[in-house]
Amino acid sequence: MIDHNTVQQIIDAADIVDVVSDFVALKRRGANWIGLCPFHNDRRPSFYVSRAKGICKCFACGEGGSAVNFIMKHEQLSYPEALRYLARKYHIEIQEKELTDEEKQAQTEREAMLMLNEWACSYFEKQLHETQDGQDIGLSYFRERGFNDTTIKEFRLGYSSEEYDDFYKAAIAQGFNAKLLFDVGLCIPNDRGGGYDRFRGRVMFPIMNIAGKVIAFGGRTLKKDKNIAKYVNSPESAIYSKRSVIYGLYQAKREISKQDKCFIVEGYADVISMHQAGFKNVIASSGTALTEGHIHAIHRFTGNVTEMFDGDEAGIKAAIRGVDMLLKEGLSIKVLPLPPEDDPDTFVRANSHTQVEEYIQQHETDFIHFKSSVVLKDAQNDPIKRTAAITDVIKSISVIPDEIARMVYAKECSNLFDIDEQTILREIKKFRQKNLEQWRKEKEQQQAREQRMANNGDDAGTIPPPPPPELLEVEPETATRPSVTPATEQHIATGSQVSVQELEVIKLIVNYGMCYLCDTVYDDGHRQPTTVLEYINNEMQLDNMAFANPLYRRTFDLAKQYIEPYYRDLAAFQTAQDEDTKRYIAEEMAQELGDDIDPDAMDSAALINAMEQKRQAINARAALRAQQAQQQFSCDYLQRALCSLDDDALRQLACDIATESLPQLSKIHTKYTVIVEDKDRLPSLVPKRLYNWKNALLVQKINETKAQIATAPAEQQPQLMEYLQELYKVRHQLASVIGDRVVNPK
Ligand code: CTP
Ligand code: MN
Repeated sequence: MIDHNTVQQIIDAADIVDVVSDFVALKRRGANWIGLCPFHNDRRPSFYVSRAKGICKCFACGEGGSAVNFIMKHEQLSYPEALRYLARKYHIEIQEKELTDEEKQAQTEREAMLMLNEWACSYFEKQLHETQDGQDIGLSYFRERGFNDTTIKEFRLGYSSEEYDDFYKAAIAQGFNAKLLFDVGLCIPNDRGGGYDRFRGRVMFPIMNIAGKVIAFGGRTLKKDKNIAKYVNSPESAIYSKRSVIYGLYQAKREISKQDKCFIVEGYADVISMHQAGFKNVIASSGTALTEGHIHAIHRFTGNVTEMFDGDEAGIKAAIRGVDMLLKEGLSIKVLPLPPEDDPDTFVRANSHTQVEEYIQQHETDFIHFKSSVVLKDAQNDPIKRTAAITDVIKSISVIPDEIARMVYAKECSNLFDIDEQTILREIKKFRQKNLEQWRKEKEQQQAREQRMANNGDDAGTIPPPPPPELLEVEPETATRPSVTPATEQHIATGSQVSVQELEVIKLIVNYGMCYLCDTVYDDGHRQPTTVLEYINNEMQLDNMAFANPLYRRTFDLAKQYIEPYYRDLAAFQTAQDEDTKRYIAEEMAQELGDDIDPDAMDSAALINAMEQKRQAINARAALRAQQAQQQFSCDYLQRALCSLDDDALRQLACDIATESLPQLSKIHTKYTVIVEDKDRLPSLVPKRLYNWKNALLVQKINETKAQIATAPAEQQPQLMEYLQELYKVRHQLASVIGDRVVNPK
């Protein structure tokens, strides 16, 4: 909730070279800076930083973005946290935004909940360490399980007494209101108007979010009674969503990043024991099935996941279930079956660190291999079961996004099952097509929903999920698709020509939106300088066009909102620039007069003449210098703004586009190759891309109409045919004007 101006101030102040330098040693190379990428194990410098553009990018792993993005990724912070980090660095005082009453309510409610949980967490910790029962019952239990003091502190373990309402009373006495206690679920209302403790008589495992804030608790009973639930957990609340929180991620995230790998186990105790044994890249699903939310949380830190599970039959079945979802997200999955009698907790306690490491080395198996062997063993020699088993494995392979990985598996499968490789590849292709169809259907439904919402005037502005990138390549147009980084690839909705061309246009807007393009001449003869964005906007209005991709549409709408502030900021920039130009002229004059003109050696007419010539030359230089600075300002304006937006999806899109435009120069050729940047050929590029887009739209319309004609009843045929002819005509006209549409800069 940082005030808009402060956000702008922070973004303006953040110098990308300076920000990155805090973590990466940078060396200058030409206009850019380079260093070892902090996001992967980089052996040669692949990380480029462009001060002028305010962005960075790794050409090996693709990570990068604006200063805010860099801090978010490197320090694993949220957007506002990253802004606060930068504000501290640049000594900018944060002005908090005036909240609406509703926001205030929500905000204060969430904050109050977090505050209560923080207080409760310390309360339970104190109970554990400072009360007799806490020590006798809780602490001795943890000791028995082998948890040491450091571990207990790090995971903030606690104890909640056996009494009916000890915590309830303490919290009320502390000034928390009862409703809040019920809302976060620490207490439950009773029918006498009071409340009692949900976690009474349990040891406490606080559940933290990625930033380390306590958002929920799990409490374990110490009784052996089978009728008592072993664990009780906080209910869902405004601050706790089971679907997206992973136990232990806060404690494990750095190690996960560093090792580029994480272990998934089932329980709280497993995470803690492994952590204490020196395996700190461990998290737990807390006994529930992994959701997409969980996977995205993990994927922020690594793409390599090893599932650890009990080696008994139930454990193995559970391990296989749900893994296709992990594969689909592009994660590389391994499994580590433990000896049947063990879980990770007992296993690391019974073995030394080295022994565990050795066991991992020997038993960690690629998931597909593992699944193959399990299902085959199940099927034995029953041919029907065997077919089903093989199909099952092929299905798993078919969701893997990476084509090479799929091919490797297909080959191995072919050896393992003794089936022709081509047959397997064909099956994979079939499944992928099916997946694609299903995805399309879902997308259509989503669009229909959106349409309905728009019709209801209820613009909730929901973004449909990006298409699974792995589905794109089955599209027929792949061959003509311009090369894009994997990151932008997922923004291409279906790989159809229209979405390809749309992307090209939105790229121009993000990268060069406020660049001067040409003068628009009106009927009354007056000329109006026009930016790329304004030009595209005009053209789109003339031809009644809109972006089909909702992400582009929102980017475009937002970009237009920046037009007004841009002209305001430009005026301010020019004022400052004028001052700077004056100073420059004065300095140059002083310098040159001192250098070359000897007043004693000339008569006054010659002196004045010489000075005048100098003055003119300096003025011309100053004007050019000012013009270039202004151009730079204009060209970078929109990109900088969009790359620092607070909307994750929009910012990511802008950053992907911006970093893609960073020229990657080979070390040898830099010196000799002249690179024509898009920036220098905007007058031809902008109309051309608009043309391509229009053309793609027309072709789409033509194809749709043809399809309609094929199925329409006879009486509609003439009308449709006429429409089709009309479309052909427009297309023809469009093709003939493209030559003239190259705008002429003044
Ligand atoms: N779980 C739960 N509620 C239960 C049982 C289990 O929420 N009634 C969740 C907990 O997050 C638990 C995980 O499922 O950590 C795994 O369950 P289990 O293996 O039974 O627990 P452990 O963590 O191994 O607990 P312990 O070793 O203390 O028995
Ligand atoms: Mn256990």
